[in-house]
Amino acid sequence: MNRSKDDFDTPDWLQAELADTLDEDYELELSEPALSEEIRKVYRKSHPPSMPRIDYFRTLLSLQAELIKLQDWVSYHKEKVVVIFEGRDSAGKGGVIKRITQRLNPRVVRVVALPAPSDREKTQWYFQRYVPHLPAGGEIVLFDRSWYNRSGVERVMGFATEDQVEQFFDDVPEFERMLVRSGIRLVKYWFSITDEEQQMRFLVRIHDPLKQWKLSPMDLQSRVRWEAYTKAKEETFARTNIPEAPWYIVEGNDKKRARLNCIDHLLTQIPYEDVPHEDITLPERVFNPDYERKVL
Ligand code: ADP
Ligand code: AMP
Ligand code: MLT
Repeated sequence: MNRSKDDFDTPDWLQAELADTLDEDYELELSEPALSEEIRKVYRKSHPPSMPRIDYFRTLLSLQAELIKLQDWVSYHKEKVVVIFEGRDSAGKGGVIKRITQRLNPRVVRVVALPAPSDREKTQWYFQRYVPHLPAGGEIVLFDRSWYNRSGVERVMGFATEDQVEQFFDDVPEFERMLVRSGIRLVKYWFSITDEEQQMRFLVRIHDPLKQWKLSPMDLQSRVRWEAYTKAKEETFARTNIPEAPWYIVEGNDKKRARLNCIDHLLTQIPYEDVPHEDITLPERVFNPDYERKVL
């Protein structure tokens, strides 16, 4: 999982993109000035420097170039891929999903992040509201949280009864085997962060106007109920780690490494290859003065 930056070349055509990306990158650093001096001190102490930005972006761009090959392969061979992103609140699921989709075609790669179930959905078969989002041939679906809500947030917060949770554990291996038998490639990631790191990320969210929207009442409860979430996670792993769809744990405290590791690993899970592309030549533009727009 741990490739070093030297495993990747940055081809010439990516150098310009790399320069642009470095210019545009404010996400990683921007939150810091919004912090109070006191929190900033704690933040700096608990965040030893990660990899240099230039190495991070060089590797990220190379991985994103590989993701494009993966996308083309999925599209060409009408493959079906489902990737599940689970983990505690603020573990970094949303961040890696953003980097995966950043340069891909939204018609091929979709993100599914379902809200709490409606009253109507609550009366349905539990898996029913997830099923319509599963991929057709040539599609990749990234689930930002998934049916594992039942053994996670719903269990811990009491939105599901213990009977429903038990039923879920009985059903989910068979449900996932059915997906795999139908030709879906199913990959499951668990983003793991420490107690201290979650505390710090929530403080950052409280203080950063650009991140406040991420902080939900559920998140606040996940601080209070850290231990209950740990128990729920352990039982989920024990009962749903099936050979057809094992769990992979991503160490999430270091955001940059977590993103690179996860994308790198995802690429190893799908046997994509280059697919034939026809050479493209740009046709001549037809010039008709009647239709020229006046220059403003
Ligand atoms: P996120 O962490 O994805 O930004 P929240 O923290 O608001 O979103 O909620 C966490 C998860 O809990 C979401 O998947 C949401 O659908 C689910 N959830 C929230 N409220 C309920 C509820 N009343 N019943 C079932 N699931 C819920
Ligand atoms: P998680 O995000 O649940 O995978 O947990 C992330 C980190 O918290 C890991 O370093 C775990 O070892 C640690 N952890 C989780 N639960 C507990 C607990 N009950 N006691 C001590 N450490 C824990
Ligand atoms: C994450 O970073 O894990 C996601 O944004 C989920 C959340 O909002 O907690």
